[in-house]
Amino acid sequence: MNDEQIAQFNAKQRQAFDTVYDRFLVDLPQDVCARMERIVAAPDIQAGENVLDVGTGTGALMPDIRKYRPGHIYACDLSGKMLEQVAQRYPEVERHQADIRDLDLPDACVDVVFMNGMYGNIADKPGALRNILRMLRPGGRVVISHPEGRAFVEGLVRSEPFPITSLPSPDEAHSFLGSFGLTVTQYTDEEKLLIVVAVKSKK
Ligand SMILES: C[S@@+](CC[C@H](N)C(=O)[O-])C[C@H]1O[C@@H](n2cnc3c(N)ncnc32)[C@H](O)[C@@H]1O
Repeated sequence: MNDEQIAQFNAKQRQAFDTVYDRFLVDLPQDVCARMERIVAAPDIQAGENVLDVGTGTGALMPDIRKYRPGHIYACDLSGKMLEQVAQRYPEVERHQADIRDLDLPDACVDVVFMNGMYGNIADKPGALRNILRMLRPGGRVVISHPEGRAFVEGLVRSEPFPITSLPSPDEAHSFLGSFGLTVTQYTDEEKLLIVVAVKSKK
């Protein structure tokens, strides 16, 4: 996709998620909450570390992220309506309405980056990863996850009005993330859960 196509794709998504933001405000079932807990536990957040939640939606990960007493939490989303909800529910979170490939936080300012339930929605994945690596500190962790798993996402690939991609296979995760200098340290693929954790070299 060229820049114009990415902008069009993002505009469609923004519009779609602005319309359905309230669907993300319902209380999650117990089993989904348990899987979200596992996702947030995966990168082993240390107290004081800075966390960026990409495609945060209405902030579904925030209650679990807060438990780790992070230093600073950043949230990035294309949808202004989603971010309005984050502002009301989690006012301490620093919000940015942007495509993750354009998010302009300072270099090396975050320790952990979550992309939960949204990786397939990113139009320019190489651009997104390049920018995430710039903002990530050495030793920082990137988490790609989905609390409903691979088959659920395949359903979205067929039904959404904008193109969504499948979750990465182990080979794709290793080769794609590896090309950005990230080492995959966890790849969990269960019927209703995907968690990939990749670490940036400390050098
Ligand atoms: C399924 S929703 C919410 C997912 C949320 N993380 C959760 O766990 O409930 C996906 C969100 O990703 C956002 N999104 C999609 N592509 C994005 C991108 N390139 N940069 C930032 N946000 C993006 C959409 O606007 C949408 O709010």
